[in-house]
Amino acid sequence: MGVVETVRSVVQFKPLELDPVQRRIGKAASVDDLRRMARRRLPRGVFDYIDGGAEDERSLERNVSAFGRLELNPRVLRDVSAVDTSTTILGRPVPMPLALSPTGFTRIADPEGELAVARAANRAGLPYGLSTMGTRSIEEVAAVSSGPKWFQVYTWKDRGLVKDLVDRAAAAGYEAIILTVDTAVLGRRERDVRRGYTLPPKIGPGTIVDGILHPAWTLDFLRNPPITFASVASNNPADDGSSAVTLSEYMNSQFDAALSWRDVEWLQSVWSGPLVLKGIQSPADAKLAVAAGVQAIALSNHGGRQLDGAPPVVELIEPVAQEVGGQIEIYCDGGVRRGSDIVKALALGADACMIGRAYLYALGAAGERGVDHVLGFLAQGMARTMALAGVPRLADINRELVRWRPPSA
Ligand code: FNR
Ligand code: LAC
Repeated sequence: MGVVETVRSVVQFKPLELDPVQRRIGKAASVDDLRRMARRRLPRGVFDYIDGGAEDERSLERNVSAFGRLELNPRVLRDVSAVDTSTTILGRPVPMPLALSPTGFTRIADPEGELAVARAANRAGLPYGLSTMGTRSIEEVAAVSSGPKWFQVYTWKDRGLVKDLVDRAAAAGYEAIILTVDTAVLGRRERDVRRGYTLPPKIGPGTIVDGILHPAWTLDFLRNPPITFASVASNNPADDGSSAVTLSEYMNSQFDAALSWRDVEWLQSVWSGPLVLKGIQSPADAKLAVAAGVQAIALSNHGGRQLDGAPPVVELIEPVAQEVGGQIEIYCDGGVRRGSDIVKALALGADACMIGRAYLYALGAAGERGVDHVLGFLAQGMARTMALAGVPRLADINRELVRWRPPSA
C-alpha cells in the first residue's frame, strides 16, 4: 500500500458539527466539563453565585469529595443484560431515583430559566422542584410540564403569602411541597460579598466589563423581560425581586428566622399532599420529621451555601437511615455529579438523590438541551455502574456494595 492509501485508511474526519450548542454538548463528557463551559459562557458574578458556597466552602467541597471516599465492591458473573433503575418517589413511578432540586433565579443562567429545566425534567419523567425564588411562575411552569412537579416554600414573614402560594401550587397540579428548613438566615457566600453581587445582576462598571467579555449572555439578558420572582410578584408588586438587592438583604428582611416545627404543623394544615423537609442534617431531626408525619426528608446543607462546616450529605445517609429508614423517604441532596454517586447513596440507605448545580451548569453551558444531556448522562452512568458492579436491580443494592476508603489510603 502506498503512503496515501495508508493515510486514507486511518484518517477519518468527524463530520463538522455546525450547531454550536450541539458542538458544546458533544464535548461535555462529564458534569465537570459542563461546569467549565458554564464558567466560560456566564459572567463571573453569575457563575460565582451558582458555583459558590458559604465562607470557606468546606461543606461545598466535601459534599462532592465525600463521594470519592466511597468505593464500590463489585460482584461479577451476575447477568447484567437487563439493568432496571426504575422505582417510585412519593408513590409516583419514575425511571430512576432522581429529582431536580429547587434553585432560585434560574433565568440568570438561561433566558428560558425554570421553563427549560421543567421541560427537560418532564421529558426524563423526573420530579422538578420549583423554587419560591423562581423566575418563572407556578402557573407558567405547570403550563409546560405535565410531569411530577413540587413547589418549594420559603416561609415569608407574611404567612398569608405562603398560603396563597401553596393554594396556587395545589390548583396548578403540583404534587408535593418542599419546605426548606436550612435557611432561617442566609449563609455568607463570600464570592458574592466580594463582588457586591446583587440579584438580579446590576449593571455597573464591573458588570459592564464582565458583560462585554460575555456578549451572548449580555444580549440575552438585555433582550428579555426583567428577571423577577415570578410567583411572588403578583402578591408583592413592590418586592417582586426586580430591583437589584443583595440576596442577604432581601432574604433577611422577608424571611422568618422564627421558623420552627410549629410551622411544619401549620403547613400541614394548609396543604394536604406530601411534604418534604429539605435541609435535615441529623438523625435527631430526622426522627422529629417522622414524628411530625411528613412523607420525606432531603438530607441537605443547601449545596454548602448555608452553614459551612455542616457534614457532607453523603456521610449523613447511613446514620439517618439507621434511625428512620423505611418510615420516611430519604433523599440525598448535595454533591451528586455522576450516576455512580446515586448508586452509592442508595447503598447507604437513601431512597433517591436530588441535584442542583449539575443541571444549572448544564443550563448555563448549553441551555435546555444541556439539561437533557446531563439527565441522560446521569441515567446512563447509573445503569452502567449497576452493570459493572453486578447489581442489575435497585433491590440488589445494599450496604455491602460500598465501603469508606480509610483516610490514610
Ligand atoms: C440553590 N438551592 C436552593 N434551595 C432551595 O430550597 N431554594 C432555592 O431557591 C435554592 N436556590 C439555589 C440556587 C442555586 C444557584 C444553588 C446552587 C442552589 C439549593 C439546592 O436546592 C440544592 O440543595 C443544592 O444545589 C444541592 O447541591 P448540589 O447538587 O448543587 O451539589
Ligand atoms: C440560594 C437561595 C436562593 O441558595 O436559596 O441562593
